[in-house]
Amino acid sequence: MERKLAIGLVYNLKKPPDDGIPIDAYAEFESAETVDLIANSLQSMGYHVRLIPFEGPSILAELQSAPVDLVFNIAEGLSGGRNRESIIPALLELLGKPYTGSDPTTLGVTLDKSLTKEVVAAQGIPVARGRSFFQPSAEEIDNLVSELKTFPLVVKPRWEGSSKGISTTSLVKNRAELSAEIERINQLYDQPALVEEFLPGREFSVGLIGNGSDLQVFPVLEVVYAEKPLTDFVYSYEVKSGNRETLVCPAPIGDRLSDRLSRLAQQAFTVLGCRDWARVDFRLDGAGEPRFLEINPLPGLSKDSLYPLQARAAGVSYPELLEKIVNSALQRQNNKREATGSGKLG
Ligand SMILES: Nc1ncnc2c1ncn2[C@@H]1O[C@H](COP(=O)(O)OP(=O)(O)OP(=O)(O)O)[C@@H](O)[C@H]1O
Ligand SMILES: [Mg+2]
Repeated sequence: MERKLAIGLVYNLKKPPDDGIPIDAYAEFESAETVDLIANSLQSMGYHVRLIPFEGPSILAELQSAPVDLVFNIAEGLSGGRNRESIIPALLELLGKPYTGSDPTTLGVTLDKSLTKEVVAAQGIPVARGRSFFQPSAEEIDNLVSELKTFPLVVKPRWEGSSKGISTTSLVKNRAELSAEIERINQLYDQPALVEEFLPGREFSVGLIGNGSDLQVFPVLEVVYAEKPLTDFVYSYEVKSGNRETLVCPAPIGDRLSDRLSRLAQQAFTVLGCRDWARVDFRLDGAGEPRFLEINPLPGLSKDSLYPLQARAAGVSYPELLEKIVNSALQRQNNKREATGSGKLG
């Protein structure tokens, strides 16, 4: 009988928030329930699974000694800075161990929303106009206000995910609110605040899986919110954690918009050098045209997260989705080995 492939699942486990740190501090980490779901699903697909929680610097030795063929990486990292998602892939590259998903450079760039927008905008992908600030002078704020010539604006942390720092106060309607919100983000998250023009249209998200000519785009998902008009809506931490939105997939949109969103998502995935899997978020501007908001190369995998819903709409069950991510990573490794004349993995 063929030996089962051994997969090391590397993750950060959610903890209850400590006093004195933001309520959403561990929002991007995995719950014990999600870790169990992933491990059980991989086992149901015939893999042997070893849990490798990332809790600190001892991870290097743990990764080195773990008898695994492939690491399934969903670790968000621990440092808090914009390199945090790159830590595990960088260590795995140091150790020469294969892993699922994007490399440290892509994870670093995509965590930084300003840098990401520079890269995708250079490819002609439309983005929200904006700028980022750390403790700006009054003059810098005045300059921004006269440059953008519009309110409301959105203020968000430059390198967070899972709606961290996004709340009802993120949508600012005048200069005083803008200045206060920049200050709040700088203080609370210890990083620049990204100020963008507010895109008042419908919100969509597109999941992708695979690489190169095998890159598959899942049906477009719409985030629907019934409590307020779209012109007042931001998909905040409060909305997300309270499950107050409805996720509709496939989104009830025509082929033209669906094709456009899919193409833009594919283009963003490719130019940013993403691998195996990712999810791209968009919103429509006042003219109804899609604008890229951000890309998540480690999209959430909890049972009700957007990415598994997108897969399900394509007829891909949760365990099959994980298997596809694994196969995509193995295929990449094999292609590399073939190119260098080395033996096959998996
Ligand atoms: N420029 C903008 N115009 C309108 N809404 C915006 C804008 N930027 C962010 N938002 C709203 O805030 C939400 C969160 O923003 P964004 O996707 O950048 O953050 P995130 O925390 O990285 O998200 P995720 O939870 O998907 O990782 C968006 O889903 C959208 O509703
Ligand atoms: Mg998002």
